[in-house]
Amino acid sequence: MELSTSILGLNLKNPLIASASPLTGSLESIRKLEDNGIAAVIMHSLFEEEINHEIGQIDHFLHVNSNSYAEALTYLPSEVDFDNLQADHYLEEIRRIKEGVHIPIIASLNGVSSGGWVKYAKKLQEAGADALELNITYIPTSMELEGYRVEQMYIDTVATVAEQIAIPLNVKMNSYFSNPANMAKRFVEAGAKGLSLFDNPTLVDVDLELLTPLQRANITSSERLSESLRWCAILYKKLSCSLCANTGIHTGEDVLKAIMSGADATALASVLLIKGEGEIKQILSDINEWMEKHEYESISQMKGSISLIHTDNPSVFERNSYMYALQHYRR
Ligand SMILES: Cc1cc2nc3c(=O)[nH]c(=O)nc-3n(C[C@H](O)[C@H](O)[C@H](O)COP(=O)(O)O)c2cc1C
Repeated sequence: MELSTSILGLNLKNPLIASASPLTGSLESIRKLEDNGIAAVIMHSLFEEEINHEIGQIDHFLHVNSNSYAEALTYLPSEVDFDNLQADHYLEEIRRIKEGVHIPIIASLNGVSSGGWVKYAKKLQEAGADALELNITYIPTSMELEGYRVEQMYIDTVATVAEQIAIPLNVKMNSYFSNPANMAKRFVEAGAKGLSLFDNPTLVDVDLELLTPLQRANITSSERLSESLRWCAILYKKLSCSLCANTGIHTGEDVLKAIMSGADATALASVLLIKGEGEIKQILSDINEWMEKHEYESISQMKGSISLIHTDNPSVFERNSYMYALQHYRR
């Protein structure tokens, strides 16, 4: 069975990528992933706040000055302190990992502004990263900040990071824009060579003992796969970039659904955190078994086969089907 595929111009031996998580932070844990068959790794993120080491500064400018966002950006530091220990450690880890494994390593930057910190992208490239993933997660709390300005901030940040590097840039986007397809197109125009659909927001909760709100990492199940399937199917062959299905990939069947919807590869975090690295072998074996049973010879043969442009049932992605699904619910 031919499981190979590619994203971001990188050849992958199969469609399983380890998404950014605590399992992708060190050479030792990445080796375990490689030994179990993972095809590539996205390192845990280096955060804008860790680079600028002025925690609160970004929030301060984006929230307090949300009436004048463009002006606010000019207050952000134009240069960053490259002696930052955490950031230096990240670079050192990339070098060690690149020497210690054979699979592609994608570094990950996580931030919101197009301030001086983005110059760090070049350092990640110099340290040996094969590609860079950018995760922009901004949570506006000001009612005065209009949606189009938030969108422009995302685009500006992607464009500024893309300018810094020659390695391919992957944008891990969220699904909360008014029109994710339009944002996907604008990310590609700004320099993205790949899109991950989608990031998974952290969960807000309330601690009833301490009477305080809290935020925690969000562990998913296959139930969360739906949005990735929908948008991979809608975007397939519409943009000159690779698509990676992210969030809710837990089983071999999830991978097959994502590939048929139009994904080039899939990224996994929760399932590996819950079941351990050994689950990679099980997922690969389930994919092989399904393909054999259904007489598929390769991943490329099934790619996009039920996407919007290939399905014989395109209305499933539209309002008609939404209405039908609600009206024909049976207990
Ligand atoms: C504990 C934990 C840590 C994570 N750390 C990062 C991170 O550093 N950077 C990032 O972009 N995403 C991070 N994520 C998000 C995952 O990379 C992934 O996008 C998300 O969990 C959805 O995939 P899943 O359904 O396979 O879990 C983290 C997720 C978890 C659960």
